[in-house]
Amino acid sequence: MRNITVLGTGVLGSQIIYQTAYHGFKVTAYNVRATSLDKARERISALSTRYLNDLPDATPEKIQAGLDNIAYSSDLAQAVKDADMVIEALPEDMATKETAYTELAAIAPAKTIFATNSSSLLPSSLMPFTGRPDRFIALHYANEVWTHNTAEIMGTSETSPEVYQELVRFAKETGMVPIQIKKEKAGYLLNSLLIPLLNAGSKLFGGGYAEPADIDATWRIATGAPAGPFQILDIVGLKTAYNIMAMSSDPEIIAFSKIVKENYIDKGKLGVATGEGFYKYTK
Ligand SMILES: NC(=O)c1ccc[n+]([C@@H]2O[C@H](COP(=O)([O-])OP(=O)(O)OC[C@H]3O[C@@H](n4cnc5c(N)ncnc54)[C@H](O)[C@@H]3O)[C@@H](O)[C@H]2O)c1
Repeated sequence: MRNITVLGTGVLGSQIIYQTAYHGFKVTAYNVRATSLDKARERISALSTRYLNDLPDATPEKIQAGLDNIAYSSDLAQAVKDADMVIEALPEDMATKETAYTELAAIAPAKTIFATNSSSLLPSSLMPFTGRPDRFIALHYANEVWTHNTAEIMGTSETSPEVYQELVRFAKETGMVPIQIKKEKAGYLLNSLLIPLLNAGSKLFGGGYAEPADIDATWRIATGAPAGPFQILDIVGLKTAYNIMAMSSDPEIIAFSKIVKENYIDKGKLGVATGEGFYKYTK
């Protein structure tokens, strides 16, 4: 694989674009709106600075070579005409993805592999619209891909074993650690592990058993983990956490989501991004 097209240039799309380009692949960044491409260039340029600061082997030349490997397009047919793989990082919305895959299926070359970065929509729910079930797979990145470099690889029952192995190779060649999932699992491995921890912490606070700092300290000191659930929630962002937890029917989670709304979100304390959540952050 040499030519990769990424659909969507938002938070994750832009990271996948630069990570792939930084490792020497030719990448086409696609957004349906031409006006969004200028924003994508800015976002990717800012990301490249993060690479320079965070990666010990990054040099200004390597950073620039990565930027030079990226082309930008708002014409889907043109963006995918030479693609060995299309990585889809569109908004997590079934209707948007269904429309995009239906269009893509009709115009992408037969050889092109489609990979979805969807977090909660299962690949088997998108597969019927791809027109190539054997060449469709999930490739799930974690936010801040250059340092949190897991690539969860998860096929459907229809994905060909060769395509699966190609993805494992691609992940390694782009500086990712391939995480091989043997059958479809909602939440992949990462969220299957993380969400129960965050829920447990939320219930301990929501149920009035202990304060966030003590819950976090227990987890950190007794297990050696670098962060407890509330430190993680501050990174995820309290709005995202609230949106997920507000759907729960568990009384302790409901109590927790009320505290989060009234004491944090309504006061503009959204986590690391705003400088304060459960903890205060300085630049
Ligand atoms: N944000 C995360 O931490 C994270 C982590 C792992 C996976 N994901 C998954 O990655 C996907 C993208 O998430 P995100 O956080 O980057 O979302 P985002 O909203 O930041 O980005 C979506 C991008 O798609 C563009 N877009 C919208 N409709 C389009 C269309 N029809 N064609 C082309 N581009 C279109 C938007 O302009 C935007 O650039 C989702 O499936 C999400 O579940 C997100």
